[in-house]
Amino acid sequence: MQRVKIFDTTLRDGEQSAGVNLNLSEKLEIARQLEKLNVDIIEAGFPAASKGDFLSVQKVAEAIKGCSVTGLARSVYSDIDTAWEALKNGADPRLHLFIATSPIHMKYKLRQTPQEVIETAVQTVKYASSKFPIVQWSAEDACRTELPFLAEIIEEVIQAGARVINIPDTVGYITPEEYGQIFQYLKQNVPSIDKVSLSTHCHNDLGMAIANSLAAVQNGATQVEGTINGIGERAGNAALEEFAVALQIRKDYYQADTRMKLDEISRSSSLISKLTGMPVPANKAIVGRNAFAHESGIHQDGVLKEKTTYEIISPQLVGYQTNSMVLGKHSGRHAFRNRLSEIGLHVPEEDISRLFAVFKDLADRKKEMTDEDITAIVLEEKLSKDPSFYEFLSIQVQYGTNQVPTATVTLSGRNNELIQEAATGAGSIEALYNTLEKCMGKDKANLLDYRIQSVGAGRDALAQVFVKLRYAGTETSGRGLAQDVLEASAKAYLNAVNRILYMYENDNSKLPVHG
Ligand code: KIV
Ligand code: ZN
Repeated sequence: MQRVKIFDTTLRDGEQSAGVNLNLSEKLEIARQLEKLNVDIIEAGFPAASKGDFLSVQKVAEAIKGCSVTGLARSVYSDIDTAWEALKNGADPRLHLFIATSPIHMKYKLRQTPQEVIETAVQTVKYASSKFPIVQWSAEDACRTELPFLAEIIEEVIQAGARVINIPDTVGYITPEEYGQIFQYLKQNVPSIDKVSLSTHCHNDLGMAIANSLAAVQNGATQVEGTINGIGERAGNAALEEFAVALQIRKDYYQADTRMKLDEISRSSSLISKLTGMPVPANKAIVGRNAFAHESGIHQDGVLKEKTTYEIISPQLVGYQTNSMVLGKHSGRHAFRNRLSEIGLHVPEEDISRLFAVFKDLADRKKEMTDEDITAIVLEEKLSKDPSFYEFLSIQVQYGTNQVPTATVTLSGRNNELIQEAATGAGSIEALYNTLEKCMGKDKANLLDYRIQSVGAGRDALAQVFVKLRYAGTETSGRGLAQDVLEASAKAYLNAVNRILYMYENDNSKLPVHG
């Protein structure tokens, strides 16, 4: 059995998904969950991209001890220095250095000749290797690179000190057979290839990211890069949960496995979906709501007689619990604490009392508190410790069939001043959002998307609202949780605005990363 390393880039390539903007505590929460999932390497960000990216890579590197933490750098000395500063206190620091190698990228983007690109790559790999114990080198747009040139530059960077060679399909263009052939070609034409590990990095533009990653493994790749839920630039990256479960289920065929704890998949997927605001399609393999639902009569009948008739993956394998034990208003602190650890939520002892009070308050109004409710409130509470510019205090919304909807909002502002406004709209949400906009002063917020979802089932389910909006020239997402949909809507709006204001204050130099 061959062991394939999992390189998770949810916090770097995944965060490059349009409208996704994670803050520091969200990134830490995701990194801790990835550590539980037992990935081998976490790419925590691109330290030179902005102050915020630098800080989050640094904090993730300091917090995570169970796997290696890496950061991306262009082939520029200052990027390497910045990445070293961010990563040096990590348990197993490594650098992910890249330069484009395809004719299109070299000519139009880098404006360098192939020879200049080789020189830049060699010099920067040498420099990086003098600082980092492990340097991974990526040939951006490798799959549209001429193979003799790809082999030549790879040989040079191995000689310069690269330990892992990554072959990205940056634009999601390659097919499985061709991708496998690239790995074969490199094994035959790069003299020092045996000194390094080979890695895949596939984008999903043609829906072939997983098939391509598997083909690469069959042809010598020992590391696979991707993201949870397949989020990422454009159509996204290879979905790591799909890759790991495919290896597990078809071990007989691939003769390979990973060290991923598969039963942490469902928790990782829902955390990342919630924090990025990117919903998981119901029919998505492994983590979609319908992935284990049997609808047709014939299938249901078969599954009742013998599960394996139509079920190749058991829901438990990827962490779906059938346990539906619920807590309620009579549950005590002890039961609450036990439930937290059964769900796998780590809460420091000093936070238990505060969380228990939130739990009790909600349990008074809601008949049953399911695991989904508990997870949602704990996560919201944990993450609400971030500094916010505008804080929600109260709302009042009036709606009647023949009346103009009116909202009144009270917030506390940047300097704890009280802000109160009222406005109307064509519907309750519009009235609410018009009022919130008045509270914000001069900057207009364009609402790009609004979604509402219940947390679990039942009429008294909590409401989770996700918004995407453009505010002060930046697009971001926000989420809000409450028992009432209007309150959840107001919180989601404020969460998005606070996120942008925080970014401007701490992170005003965001750079574009790559194409
Ligand atoms: O897709 C890509 O080429 C990348 C590189 C920076 C590795 O993400
Ligand atoms: Zn990528």
